[in-house]
Amino acid sequence: MTVPVFTPSFLKDLDRLFVWRRDVRHFHSSPVPDTVLNALLYETCLAPSVGLSEPWRFVLIKTPERKEAMKQNFIESNARDLEGRCGEEAKHYATLKLSGMDEAPHHIAVFCDINPTQGRGLGRASMPETTTWSAVMAIHTFWLAATARGIGVGWVSILDPELACRTLSIEPNWRFLAYLCVGYPQKSACTPELERLGWERRNPNRRKWIYR
Ligand SMILES: Cc1cc2nc3c(=O)[nH]c(=O)nc-3n(C[C@H](O)[C@H](O)[C@H](O)COP(=O)(O)O)c2cc1C
Repeated sequence: MTVPVFTPSFLKDLDRLFVWRRDVRHFHSSPVPDTVLNALLYETCLAPSVGLSEPWRFVLIKTPERKEAMKQNFIESNARDLEGRCGEEAKHYATLKLSGMDEAPHHIAVFCDINPTQGRGLGRASMPETTTWSAVMAIHTFWLAATARGIGVGWVSILDPELACRTLSIEPNWRFLAYLCVGYPQKSACTPELERLGWERRNPNRRKWIYR
């Protein structure tokens, strides 16, 4: 295979991909074709992983009862989060749409096999949590690959993870990491929704590094 040369125009597009990747909560109901979704998941598996353990596990939720139970899980977890807030902040929080579970045509739960045989334990003896980080790398790969194809992804973490595992009949050594809503976005934006709604701002100079 020829080693690729990434042209300045590709790098410009890549930068735009990073800038325009959004957490999406507003979806069209039309589904993403299976071939496209499968290609996306296939590409996602190129993510790096500790010891080449590939510990990510994607679960595509098909049964309406399970989707409904996950929605209920979100509603209850979100209500608990709201209860813990007061005053203006609580009012503001209550106005935020923090999941696109109602409209998104695809629900994908992501797990990490916390003790995979693949990789033979390389790289995780002193830092076992590196399997989890590897699976999160795959989520980010999925997110970017989806955005590049005009497909939106919304990460929902306002959930009770143990209840999620029970709802989805998941085996004990899989750790729940994320619930992804996937579909075609209703709108595009180059800034986070939470910023546009005044909840939080991206650090304008993006300086999150120090020197030692
Ligand atoms: C680990 C993780 C968990 C998140 N959980 C939620 C969530 O439960 N609900 C939500 O609306 N957004 C969630 N988000 C999306 C963030 O709010 C979003 O990434 C952030 O506001 C920046 O916006 P952007 O992704 O559009 O750049 C989550 C993102 C990450 C990385």
